[in-house]
Amino acid sequence: MFYSLLKKILFQFDPEFIHHESLELFHAFPHFFSSFFHHHFKTDTQFLTHRRNPLKLVNPLIVAAGLDKNAVALPIWEAMGFGAVEVGTVTPLAQLGNAKPRIFRFKDETLLNSMGFPNLGMHAVASNIARFKKSQQGMMKVGINIGKNKNTSLENSINDYLQTYEYLSPLADYVAINISSPNTPGLRSLGNESWLRECLQELVHARKKNPKALFIKVGPDLAKLTDYDFLSRLTQEFDLAGIVATNTTSDHLYGSGGISGARLLNKSRMVREYLLKHFQQTCPEKIVMGVGGMSRPEHFQEFWNSGGVYAQLYSGLIYQGPGIIRKILHTFTMKTLGH
Ligand SMILES: Cc1cc2nc3c(=O)[nH]c(=O)nc-3n(C[C@H](O)[C@H](O)[C@H](O)COP(=O)(O)O)c2cc1C
Repeated sequence: MFYSLLKKILFQFDPEFIHHESLELFHAFPHFFSSFFHHHFKTDTQFLTHRRNPLKLVNPLIVAAGLDKNAVALPIWEAMGFGAVEVGTVTPLAQLGNAKPRIFRFKDETLLNSMGFPNLGMHAVASNIARFKKSQQGMMKVGINIGKNKNTSLENSINDYLQTYEYLSPLADYVAINISSPNTPGLRSLGNESWLRECLQELVHARKKNPKALFIKVGPDLAKLTDYDFLSRLTQEFDLAGIVATNTTSDHLYGSGGISGARLLNKSRMVREYLLKHFQQTCPEKIVMGVGGMSRPEHFQEFWNSGGVYAQLYSGLIYQGPGIIRKILHTFTMKTLGH
């Protein structure tokens, strides 16, 4: 009720302006907003012991990458009730991203974005995370999503992933390699088996030094579902924690950019369901982290019923506000308790 009124005002303005201003406010007044969200929205959903939970999250709901790229509002996500936040995408150097406007809202709870990884770069993001971890009272975990700078050639791209992994992994509870954003030219061409194998090979040494759960974030746009089969091979070969499925889709008629939210759901769900089944058969101990179009408690329940564990949220939070978190987690508790 409160959010539907607030949304009427917020949605009068440019989406990126509102996003930016909200993060600035959260950053400037962390105590005020934390206690507000804690008081009005937080719920105490707990993982029960029989559930798989290798990342040791307090609950399975994670803020998706892109919402807090620079880790400026970490206490706020914790106060809203998330079990973790995926910061980023973070690149080695700061960059501005693509030309504005670059986020568009549709009436049916769908977003189109062509951000192109605007971020403060790995050094600044690392200090923000370090500050949060130092002062942290609570239990929220921080995943870090890493990518390449726009100006780094595709031939040198592995070096960007190596640098960001080396620098950021000591602060991360998990790391996600992003090879699936449609907004950095050529990035999606990295999502093939041979490039990924080479990249993971290069990361072996850094991972020995700083062993952190490692995920690959994939897009929903490969031609056939069986084109995703190589992921279970790589996951086993390099002992990854699993796959984040999926990023936005570039299968639309609005020019450049990626679609998230309601119009992504079917496509993303097909990939997720396929991966869940495929992983169940080939490497059942690995994780498929779900994201893409899930915005109603029943979407999450369906994911959990199919064997999914961790799930992320972005567009649904923008359209429905933080009240959605409690509703989603309620279905998780019901499922876990076997109701
Ligand atoms: C404005 C915007 C920016 C995003 N930025 C990133 C990003 O930097 N890195 C990334 O891996 N995904 C990014 N995403 C994709 C989300 O993490 C998520 O995969 C996608 O939005 C689908 O989830 P949803 O339907 O719940 O929004 C972005 C999405 C939006 C809407």
